[in-house]
Amino acid sequence: MAEIVIVDSVETAGEVAADAVQRLVAERVDAVLGLATGSTPVPLYRALERRVAAGGLDLSKLRGFALDEYVGLPEGHEQSYASVIRREVVEPLRLDASSVHVPDGRPQQIETAGARYEAQLQEAGGIDLQILGLGTDGHIGFNEPGSSFASLTRVKTLTEQTRRDNARFFASADEVPLHCITQGVGTILRARHLLLLAFGEGKADALAAAVEGPLTASVPGSAIQLHARVTVVVDEAAASRLARADYYRYAWANKPAWQGV
Ligand code: GLP
Repeated sequence: MAEIVIVDSVETAGEVAADAVQRLVAERVDAVLGLATGSTPVPLYRALERRVAAGGLDLSKLRGFALDEYVGLPEGHEQSYASVIRREVVEPLRLDASSVHVPDGRPQQIETAGARYEAQLQEAGGIDLQILGLGTDGHIGFNEPGSSFASLTRVKTLTEQTRRDNARFFASADEVPLHCITQGVGTILRARHLLLLAFGEGKADALAAAVEGPLTASVPGSAIQLHARVTVVVDEAAASRLARADYYRYAWANKPAWQGV
């Protein structure tokens, strides 16, 4: 079972998630972190930024791989995930830009982009800790409902719901690309530790379906139930539809100190 950590605020969630990253880096300075975009991981990145700025954490050797990218945005577009990762992660956390990778969303060579990314991941030795958000339709990365649990990095068509959800980052919904390239569910399951974050009422149904619902490709997030090491950090609002919330709180409150996150 995944470990479900229900916290009182998004800021606390960021600190708990940052502890997991810090613990990983303490074990191995050049660990491989799987990076998510969207609003959800921002509190984690800000918590790490504070620790780096305070001198208590050095991430300069950390390697990173983004989950996904839009296909066909002009090079340097401020909403491309390459730009978002540079702005939100690489610069504030002082990572080495040459060690951080994002799938190649350029249409000219898109046919081979998935296989090239998988090869890069393999060469790096795989992902140690994968940060994940959750779409309101249950997607992880950009694996929309119906995505195979065995899927690897490939091009997907975004659902209308995801395009509407992400329209807030663009001038209009029409500007949100139709296609994306994303690590597959199978790629995500190869990471050695999954760290799923979800905040707010809008994620409550998707979270309950992912954590407690049946295993189904119709809820790609439910694939986390197949993984032996999963940490889910959520706020009260996102946790509000979990049937076993009291048990998760009880287990967290009684967690042996030596276990860590
Ligand atoms: C986006 C991203 C996902 C993200 C999810 C949730 O479209 N591709 O990686 O986890 O949808 O987004 P947000 O965190 O903004 O709610």
